[in-house]
Amino acid sequence: MDIVDAARFAPSARNLQPLEYIVIDSSGPTEEMFRCMGFGGDTGRLEGKEPAAYIVVLINKNVPSNWCKHDSGMAIQNMMLAAWSKGIASCVLARINRDAIRKLLGVPDCYEIDLVITLGYPAEESVTEDVGKEDDTAYSRDSKGVLHIPKKRLEDIMHRNRF
Ligand SMILES: Cc1cc2nc3c(=O)[nH]c(=O)nc-3n(C[C@H](O)[C@H](O)[C@H](O)COP(=O)(O)O)c2cc1C
Repeated sequence: MDIVDAARFAPSARNLQPLEYIVIDSSGPTEEMFRCMGFGGDTGRLEGKEPAAYIVVLINKNVPSNWCKHDSGMAIQNMMLAAWSKGIASCVLARINRDAIRKLLGVPDCYEIDLVITLGYPAEESVTEDVGKEDDTAYSRDSKGVLHIPKKRLEDIMHRNRF
């Protein structure tokens, strides 16, 4: 509830608040939800370390906002930071089986299934590493199982006072 409450306080264009959330926890269909997730191939899946919970982000299509996706991004980041403040790791997923999720959770047609956040206590170690602007940013797992996430250098993406 605290995590979704963090989304509730996120900025919303014209304060229209088009977003709603479905929380799936241990009392819900977590195994079925897992089958609807598209984790990053072999790199993303850890056998036996499935997420403990899910938050499905819904956009109410009856709310006349042109900026729902921006609202969603902000709400999701709030939730991920709120989760991490409690030691809970998360991943946002766009590659999901929306038709199956709609059926599984009974989501009405007037709601768009935007993204899903998976949640759980961390099951792996990950590190970021700085890379050049033109370098490959694909993430990878090393022989010790550590996930490496390349991030473009600050000096390459931040412009001061003009481009
Ligand atoms: C809009 C969006 C969609 C994403 N969709 C997926 C996804 O479908 N599957 C997945 O494994 N990760 C997904 N991710 C997670 C990214 O792969 C991840 O954020 C990126 O590799 C950087 O890693 P980090 O968030 O740990 O820094 C998505 C991230 C965003 C922002």
